[in-house]
Amino acid sequence: MKPVRIGLLGLGTVGSGVVRLLERNRDVIEEKAGAPVQVVRALVRDPRKARDLGGARPELTTDPAEVAGAPDIDMVVEVLGGTEPARDYILRALRAGQFVVTANKDVMAEYGADVFEAARAGGAEVWFEASVGGGIPIIRPLKESLGANRIQSVLGIVNGTTNYILTRMTREGMSFDDALREAQRLGYAEPDPRNDVDGIDAARKLAILASIGFLSRITPADVYTEGIGSIGPRDIEHGRRLGWTVKLLAIARERDGAIEARVHPAFIPLHHPLAAVSGSLNAIFVTGDAVGETMFYGRGAGDMPTASSVLGDVIGAARSLALRRLLGGQRPEAAPYWPGTVLQ
Ligand code: NDP
Ligand code: HSE
Repeated sequence: MKPVRIGLLGLGTVGSGVVRLLERNRDVIEEKAGAPVQVVRALVRDPRKARDLGGARPELTTDPAEVAGAPDIDMVVEVLGGTEPARDYILRALRAGQFVVTANKDVMAEYGADVFEAARAGGAEVWFEASVGGGIPIIRPLKESLGANRIQSVLGIVNGTTNYILTRMTREGMSFDDALREAQRLGYAEPDPRNDVDGIDAARKLAILASIGFLSRITPADVYTEGIGSIGPRDIEHGRRLGWTVKLLAIARERDGAIEARVHPAFIPLHHPLAAVSGSLNAIFVTGDAVGETMFYGRGAGDMPTASSVLGDVIGAARSLALRRLLGGQRPEAAPYWPGTVLQ
């Protein structure tokens, strides 16, 4: 079987995790992908930086053209972060016909429609499970397994960094700044951690989930957003005395044909299941008219959980790529979904 040649855009927390997990579980991954999986090259800013790659030695480059659009790369895994230049590289790759797997909620939330249009133009596909919930499968279940439902609500904790900060402040009385530093050291925080603290990351994730769940194009600007910057020890103590704990919640609901979407801190009773979601864990409740309430729970951030989602997408994308090769370049009928875009 022809190998799948991967080019990484970024080799930081998530990118290094992808390389290490591929080394560790190569037999399982290749069995499911149906082909050998090779990380050929990785785009970085600083090729001299020390990196833990578990013995693998992909070629490093500072030239994006050696990955996005490069003729010897079949699949681009984008784990740079931020909007630009990540968006530009993703569009270039897709237009050149390379399949793209991305963990980038900034780009998917703001420019999802452009990304799918570029995929259509290039006859390629985009996979983005890791953009929401770290290691939790939520995008594909929402698109596929729960696809027969009218989704009524999507609600939960979707940012690991703020949940980690609130957990350490609540349980140990740690200061906000110390807890944030620790979240950064553990690789949970965004390159700019204000995106976590101010609720922006959670709003982007909610926009993605709501867009898919409610078959509507919802952008972060449609989401009321408030972060955890104003939460102090006095609020936490006040809540504790009343039997409550504070969490940053992301909530999207359909009411009378309108969609309400918001991210803000909220006190929740200690007996509520979300109260027990601690540290970098995330939990998302999805309610559908047929299935009722479902809960998705797991590690929402960190190198290995996120690598798990990224490589799960690589497996799915590799199988789809193999099918296309079998069909002589034709696109199979099944089409990835993004609200308002033409089916591929
Ligand atoms: P890091 O900051 O750890 O890694 C970013 C990588 O991209 C680095 O290797 C960096 O190079 C490279 N890079 C950044 N900008 C450029 C540029 N302009 N040109 C070339 N290389 C560049 O980020 P993460 O790995 O934590 O996050 C990556 C993506 O994954 C983000 O979209 C994030 O939101 C998402 N994500 C992260 C999770 C996490 O837990 N960390 C979980 C889920 C999603 P160099 O190493 O040389 O500096
Ligand atoms: N910074 C993000 C978080 C990474 O803390 O949830 C996972 O998307």
